[in-house]
Amino acid sequence: MKDHTQKIHASSFGDEFQWGVVIAAVQNEGAHNSYGKGPSIWDTFSRRSGKIKGSHKPYVACDFFHRYKDDLMLVKALGFKIFRFSISWPRILPEGIGKTNKEGIAFYHRVIDECLKLDLIPYVTLYHWDLPAALEKEGGWTSHLFLKWFSRYVSFCAEEFGSKVKNWIILNEPFGFTSLGYMLGKHAPGKRGFNNFFPAIHNAALAQAEGGRIIRALVPHAHIGTTFSCSEIIPFSDKETDVMAAKRVDILLNRLFIEPALGLGYPRDDFKFLEKLELYNKSWKYTRRMQFDFDFIGLQNYFPVVVKYNSFIPMIQAMEVKASTRKVSHSAMGWEINPGSFYRIIKQFWSYENVKKIIVTENGAAFKDKLVNGEIKDDQRIDYFNGHLHALLKAKKEGINVAGYFAWTLTDNFEWSEGYTARFGLIHIDFETQLRTIKNSGYWFRDFLNV
Ligand code: BGC
Repeated sequence: MKDHTQKIHASSFGDEFQWGVVIAAVQNEGAHNSYGKGPSIWDTFSRRSGKIKGSHKPYVACDFFHRYKDDLMLVKALGFKIFRFSISWPRILPEGIGKTNKEGIAFYHRVIDECLKLDLIPYVTLYHWDLPAALEKEGGWTSHLFLKWFSRYVSFCAEEFGSKVKNWIILNEPFGFTSLGYMLGKHAPGKRGFNNFFPAIHNAALAQAEGGRIIRALVPHAHIGTTFSCSEIIPFSDKETDVMAAKRVDILLNRLFIEPALGLGYPRDDFKFLEKLELYNKSWKYTRRMQFDFDFIGLQNYFPVVVKYNSFIPMIQAMEVKASTRKVSHSAMGWEINPGSFYRIIKQFWSYENVKKIIVTENGAAFKDKLVNGEIKDDQRIDYFNGHLHALLKAKKEGINVAGYFAWTLTDNFEWSEGYTARFGLIHIDFETQLRTIKNSGYWFRDFLNV
């Protein structure tokens, strides 16, 4: 991708192309225990020692709950037309099921109404990782009751907001929250092991399709998608063992959730992990219910993954070779910056016959931003976006139906286990004062979108 230093403009993508920016409830809202909200698994998880950098808590975050009007004005000022945000399940249903919370519901009406007033199109994510803590006590994503709880929540949101919101995203990155939260213990709820991972995977594969069906039934003219994290997987060497290790990681990171959604079932390659997963599937007899005809597929890409064989890693027998070890350019998260790999992973997902349309529902990078004399010169982030947008344009010009690009993220926010230390925003936040300062990358986007 040599040409990414050249300037491009949004108009090259055509008039219909949708430009958006994204936030998520836990990461931005704050007001974690007020206005009737119940605790989420991130409220409880962040109290466990050693789980989150600096013992940071998502309690106040960006105070979006009180400052949503200002933040939506900023979305508008930067020239975006789409605003993607998530609904916090425990703000709507504090106990996960049962009684609803009027003040929480009213908040989302205010946000949606303000979007509509400003001519911003809302894209609502139903699950961006904040399960009600009350449901986690009953097993959370591993429970056989999960689908029942989720269906009730989704139906409620569809009925309550469906007359105003037409664009729905069912899950945010099922591989992300099942692996980090139920296998590795690095994210909430902090569970580990295959006995948690398998049922969580299966519930997520079912929930993404079931959620789609509920929205389709209850919201006339809905435009429905769900998101998948994805990364090009590159073998460290051309040794057979590394190539096979890369294949296994590709199954997990890229294929595990999209293939059931497309009606292909779980991948059927020769991989012990899949045999075990199939056992859950068989005993739960739900294969057909994992399929749903999504209007679009949300792709979320940040970096490629280089993989090496490692016999010590149970079942997967593979490990990542970090960008820093390979001495390639990377972001503050240690993630390789590689726009060419963004292009290739989009092509990989487009190669599925029944993917009709792709929207890039997240892409962005964290850097060690410095506020100097009221300015943030985040050239690296500008370069990241510029490079990735060139790659996207190339994919589009080759005939891939990419219909939108949403930048991660509007403001610096609570970056999960990194706390407030990783800054991905187009707008800087001073978390002491909540002062917002548009970064140079924000101004770059404004020029790119030509406001
Ligand atoms: C998640 C975001 C997160 C971002 C950067 C995505 O996986 O959807 O919530 O902040 O990556 O880590």
